[in-house]
Amino acid sequence: MKTISEIRKDFPILAEKVHNKPLVYLDNGATSQKPKIVIDAISEYYTTYNSNIHRGVHHLSQVATTAYEDARKKIQSFINAKHAHEVIFTKGTTDGINLVANCLGRSYINSGDEVIISAMEHHSNIVPWQMMCEERGAILKVIPINKAGELIYESFLELLSEKTKIVAITHISNTLGTINPIKKIIKDAHQAGAQVLIDAAQSVPHTPLDVIDLDCDYLVTSGHKMFGPSGIGFLYGKESILDALPPYQGGGDMIKEVSFEKTTYNSLPHKLEAGTPNISGGIALGFAIDYINEIGYDFIQKQEKDLLDYATQELSKIEGYIPIGTAKHKASVISFLMEGTHPFDIGTIIDQLGIAVRTGHHCTQPLMRFYDIPGTIRASFAFYNTKEEIDTLVNGVKRAVRMLS
Ligand SMILES: Cc1ncc(COP(=O)(O)O)c(C=O)c1O
Repeated sequence: MKTISEIRKDFPILAEKVHNKPLVYLDNGATSQKPKIVIDAISEYYTTYNSNIHRGVHHLSQVATTAYEDARKKIQSFINAKHAHEVIFTKGTTDGINLVANCLGRSYINSGDEVIISAMEHHSNIVPWQMMCEERGAILKVIPINKAGELIYESFLELLSEKTKIVAITHISNTLGTINPIKKIIKDAHQAGAQVLIDAAQSVPHTPLDVIDLDCDYLVTSGHKMFGPSGIGFLYGKESILDALPPYQGGGDMIKEVSFEKTTYNSLPHKLEAGTPNISGGIALGFAIDYINEIGYDFIQKQEKDLLDYATQELSKIEGYIPIGTAKHKASVISFLMEGTHPFDIGTIIDQLGIAVRTGHHCTQPLMRFYDIPGTIRASFAFYNTKEEIDTLVNGVKRAVRMLS
């Protein structure tokens, strides 16, 4: 098993300096850093076998196709999907949700139908449903949360009815770190006859997922949050459900036969993957999965829990510390405010110390409205972070507060 210092060496960027200070990267919720094997996979593709996939008989095209389809198989086994063709490559979580909202809207949603989301969703899991509901005359319902940032489960059960067509919910809140009880949500939604989409953008880097055990209908995530490249992600969908969807976009690869009179469509996964994809991104995502498997979720979860507990304890000692999101089940994300200061000011001052945290609304404006705050300071940890980095954060925040008071 690798030590933390060996792991950190796998991520070249962690040795960088920012404003002449060692980088302290605590913005993993926005995007994770990339291990060298992921960076090298992209370089190797363009250096040695760059070629378009699925349509060439020549050697390079076949090598590229095999590598891309191998990555699909790695994702399949990573999430325990039954079939590789249940994995659809997308640009990321946003793209996956738009795909489902668009295709489902056109084929399955009628006037008066209902879609349920929650009050803690990222804009990506709000706006596509709003757009679809507007077009189809459907109604968007929102599960409320309590002040700790947990779903009010009884309200969810009250919202569910035979009108509910889909429940689209985040597994882990990017702003609050709340871990939602998705298995229970899926079971209750299915009992009401609704489909369920899980936004796993924040969960895949932290927790193993088994789509058969969860029994979710769709699951979406982004490569860049799980140590892979940006511009690539995937949608998982049950075979029968994806088969029933109409194509998302029209173009190359998604067709069986085209004539001016009528076009017939390809089978899964190609039906939902029009055009030349992000080939190097898909291949490198497969390497990111290899890396996660090498480190192992046992190690990841233990390390992140230690970091979360330590950071919560140390930040709580600072006078004026106001945590936002104190759910019982939390991932390694801490959102907070410092009394009498603006989050942007704290973020800007600690940036000068080499500390990268996120400040603002984190693409969850309705959540900010619920707490009646302009934004938060968010520190989000990955398994490569250390307690020393948390000490640097705590000292930086103290210093910023002193400067601002
Ligand atoms: C919970 C959640 N959903 C969706 C997204 C959107 O992901 P992407 O921008 O990679 O499509 C994010 C990104 O921060 C997120 O945290």
